Amino acid sequence: MAAFDPWAPAFLADPYPAYAELRSRGRVHYYEPTDQWLVPRHADVSALLRDRRLGRTYQHRFTHEDFGRTAPPAAHEPFHTLNDHGMLDLEPPDHTRIRRLVSKAFTPRTVEQLKPYVSQLAGELVDGLVQRGGGDLLTDVAEPLPVAVIAEMLGIPESDRAPLRPWSADICGMYELSPSEETAAKAVRASVEFSDYLLELIAARRKEPGDDLVSGLIAAHDEGDRLTEQEMISTCVLLLNAGHEATVNATVNGWWALFRHPEQLAALRADHSLIPSAVEELMRYDTPLQLFERWVLDDIEIDGTTVPRGAEIAMLFGSANHDPDVFTDPDRLDLTRKDNPHISFSAGIHYCIGAPLARIELAASMGALLERAPTLSLAAEPVRKPNFVIRGLEGLSVEVR
Ligand code: HEM
Repeated sequence: MAAFDPWAPAFLADPYPAYAELRSRGRVHYYEPTDQWLVPRHADVSALLRDRRLGRTYQHRFTHEDFGRTAPPAAHEPFHTLNDHGMLDLEPPDHTRIRRLVSKAFTPRTVEQLKPYVSQLAGELVDGLVQRGGGDLLTDVAEPLPVAVIAEMLGIPESDRAPLRPWSADICGMYELSPSEETAAKAVRASVEFSDYLLELIAARRKEPGDDLVSGLIAAHDEGDRLTEQEMISTCVLLLNAGHEATVNATVNGWWALFRHPEQLAALRADHSLIPSAVEELMRYDTPLQLFERWVLDDIEIDGTTVPRGAEIAMLFGSANHDPDVFTDPDRLDLTRKDNPHISFSAGIHYCIGAPLARIELAASMGALLERAPTLSLAAEPVRKPNFVIRGLEGLSVEVR
């Protein structure tokens, strides 16, 4: 039987058989190694994401002691200060206040206006790849596209963008299960450097505002006192990190899946009108963010089991996306799949604010690769990143002949 073991190479290579086993054994499982309750079925994940008895944080209602937890070590404080003031780790009313301010920049209509810019950039990146006869799809296309788009939206000058990816990678290490001290030290250093950089940028934009999101957040802080200085910094970091990390992985996981299903890739090459359903199916088939956690703020019951206040629930998005109760033949890649209520963008109050933008970016890079690199093929078997929560590849070597 396939075992749920998020550190085992065989599980990381293909976690889906272990999820099937978990789903068949029940709706909730206590997992001792991480002291979490695993929830593998789609209906439960979907309901829990909307359940206000759970929270991304508990600190709006309880102290660490009240909640039976210990405060993180003082040495990790810069990471937690940065992380805990971003909307993803806040609950109402703070979450509502910040999300409202930011959401104007991410409505489907606003994002639609970015389409020509995103398409042009995707085209240029793919042309470069074609001219070189191939390269690494990750560093040549998947990564520069969303990094440039979110940096442009925030108003980060091009000359300042090089450290964004390493800062993000170091901070995101903390979102894996049981991060090591070394991972924490890297995240702390990146948090300090990233925050210092943004403080400088904010000071510059305050003197000389632009038509960008950072200037918009400064106005909200200065005029209406609707955002603290720390919330402003945390919001920028969250947007910059969330704004590219999963999109990069969705792009390379998606193409890796296409290369392993040549008949599906051929169908897509023959009919580009499949791009929108292909984007959704690839995000379902190999889910870029495999797990999200919630704290139990008030006791809940799942299938007769009481999960008590103070416990932590781990919702298995990759498993929910392969649940046969919701998806016909869930382990089959079907780019024409119509009824596809995948949960890759979450649900409830933390539903991904960048989903419309991510969809535009994924469709733009796919469109550009299909049109401008019709002979794109795999040059070497890729290596999986040794991470579970953020599922990606070290690179994706391709050729264009
Ligand atoms: C394929 C790409 C993406 C995926 C799979 C993805 C997935 C997610 C998920 C699952 C959540 C919610 C986590 C939870 O419920 O605990 C989330 C939240 C968020 N995402 Fe995305 N995301 C993607 C792209 C983006 C982009 C392009 C942005 C752009 C700025 C973005 C910004 C955010 C923000 C700010 C939140 C926090 C929302 C809140 O807490 O209210 N994401 N994303």
